[in-house]
Amino acid sequence: MIIGLLGFGTIGAGVYEIIKERGAAEVRYVLDIREIGIPELTHNMEDILADSEVDTVVEVMGGLHPAYEFVTAAMKAGKSVVTANKYLVATFYDELIALAKEMGVAFRCTAAVGGGIGWLTALEKAKRAERITALEGIMNGTTNYILSNMKEKGLSFETALSEAQALGYAEADPSADIDGLDIMHKVMLSANVAYDVSVKKEELFVAGIRTITDEDVKAFGEKGLTCKILGSAFENDGAVAAFVQPTLLPADSMTASVPANFNLISYEAEHSGKMSFFGQGAGRYPTAANAVQDCLDLAAGKKEFYTNESKQIALSNDKVSYRYYIRTTAKSAKALCKEPFGPGYLTEKMSVAEMQAAMVKIKAEDEKVFIAALAE
Ligand SMILES: NC(=O)c1ccc[n+]([C@@H]2O[C@H](COP(=O)([O-])OP(=O)(O)OC[C@H]3O[C@@H](n4cnc5c(N)ncnc54)[C@H](OP(=O)(O)O)[C@@H]3O)[C@@H](O)[C@H]2O)c1
Repeated sequence: MIIGLLGFGTIGAGVYEIIKERGAAEVRYVLDIREIGIPELTHNMEDILADSEVDTVVEVMGGLHPAYEFVTAAMKAGKSVVTANKYLVATFYDELIALAKEMGVAFRCTAAVGGGIGWLTALEKAKRAERITALEGIMNGTTNYILSNMKEKGLSFETALSEAQALGYAEADPSADIDGLDIMHKVMLSANVAYDVSVKKEELFVAGIRTITDEDVKAFGEKGLTCKILGSAFENDGAVAAFVQPTLLPADSMTASVPANFNLISYEAEHSGKMSFFGQGAGRYPTAANAVQDCLDLAAGKKEFYTNESKQIALSNDKVSYRYYIRTTAKSAKALCKEPFGPGYLTEKMSVAEMQAAMVKIKAEDEKVFIAALAE
């Protein structure tokens, strides 16, 4: 296997190091903007495209552009693609899997969901044998780190976020993490693979943790609950629900106990029940190791994406219901607030779709609103 590596940042340098250490393949080119002092460096994608011996391109630059142009050009040149870029795959999902099929090249993105956890590969194997009825879990280490520290140390959201930034877990602009967008991409990819569908990411209900306060967290703790932000998808009779929301879990449950920046993702299979996967959801070596594993799967002859089918469907978020914690000053939420609960209220049971519609109005009145689903 001869590789063109796009990007030599956190993950790219890890991929380079692991491949060299194992002698598993040849990295012939490393494309990066900077002068990084390695013999394989090029600043020109054409070098990789023009070299017919390069059979695989590993994209770890991040972002949409030029990653999209480079990945599609690589496929059109007959090269297989491995990427860790969930933003890219979730945005151009249909187009990228169709192009890979048309060109007869492989396309894998295991490191895009769960970093070091081989989640998409596990899901692919599971759904070959059984129907997957649900998938759910902690899919973002940064927000788990923030929520864990708020609970354990009684920190405010702002202090917990600053600590996460100082440790390099959260970026200078943390929006993608704290507003749930990173998890949205991961849920979308997971649902597509598990249920052989193609859902529009814009249809997912996404509620983040930007507005959670230490008073909220303290009140949840007094009631024996822990708040985690979960990505979830369910399938029943062809109807698929998918969403991202803070969720209140019994404090002694397995998911509530996930520490620091770890991930825990589970699927529920029709016959074998719940299977859970725990580990480093990000970081240089765990993520790079998964990208390298994708390369080795390709070298061993794997050609398919994780699913051969992708039915276009509309989400059915009206089929899943919760009682919600809601803290807001919005008048439009008054009818929903049934039972006092800490600094906010509990609603009666309502569907995710109903909460999604209500939040559009509530947010227009009160941008500091915070909601969390109460797990059954
Ligand atoms: N970090 C993680 O833990 C993690 C986990 C799972 C998935 N991922 C995914 O892995 C991908 C890479 O993440 P990362 O953390 O390694 O990012 P990163 O540290 O920012 O590395 C990206 C590298 O690509 C280079 N680059 C950007 N645009 C380029 C261009 N047009 N041509 C050539 N080189 C270019 C960057 O150069 P400059 O530094 O000069 O911009 C940088 O060296 C992202 O899609 C991310 O979502 C990351």
